[in-house]
Amino acid sequence: MMIEPKQTILKLQLPTDPRWVSLVDENLEEILVDHAYCEQKAASSCISLIIQFPDKDKLVEILTPIVAEEWEHFSRVVDQLRKRGFQLGKKRTDAYVVELSKHERKGDRIERQLMDKLLINALIEARSCERFKILWKNLQDEELKQFYYELMASEAGHYVTFIKLAKEYMPEEVVKARWAELLEIEADIISRLEVRADRMH
Ligand SMILES: [Fe+2]
Ligand SMILES: [Fe+2]
Repeated sequence: MMIEPKQTILKLQLPTDPRWVSLVDENLEEILVDHAYCEQKAASSCISLIIQFPDKDKLVEILTPIVAEEWEHFSRVVDQLRKRGFQLGKKRTDAYVVELSKHERKGDRIERQLMDKLLINALIEARSCERFKILWKNLQDEELKQFYYELMASEAGHYVTFIKLAKEYMPEEVVKARWAELLEIEADIISRLEVRADRMH
């Protein structure tokens, strides 16, 4: 049975512009290259968290296998590129992640910084999950449809994991309040970003 995460579960405030998917079918190479780097960044981000917070046992325990999962996603995207005769190509700037990262607060308790980092990761997972769902439902290529279905489920799991992890280190009410703020910030960023067929976000 196909299980799909609902927009309401993901809690994202603004659905993706429908123009995006109509552009993607004609730009598979570009979108796959950008997607490969999204997976690389997801793996790198988990590695950075582990290195920055080696004393947080739960974080190290939970994120270590996610590094391997994200790197496997990267490898699978590279396989999809290769099968189609495309190269990996250069990494591009990710305006979405750059804008979101500006809202990572410095100062205060280290746990508050950690919470912001974890919740920003959760947002990226949620938005990726939403985009993968759109790709699963709309792409013409049968193999890629199945591929995005599997990745959608995986990123939905990561989204939940990052929020749970934030609650390990900060009180639940604080996490909820910050999450609500970040959801609004994310929607604002999405509304201002240009709709581009060569970007996953
Ligand atoms: Fe991933
Ligand atoms: Fe992920």
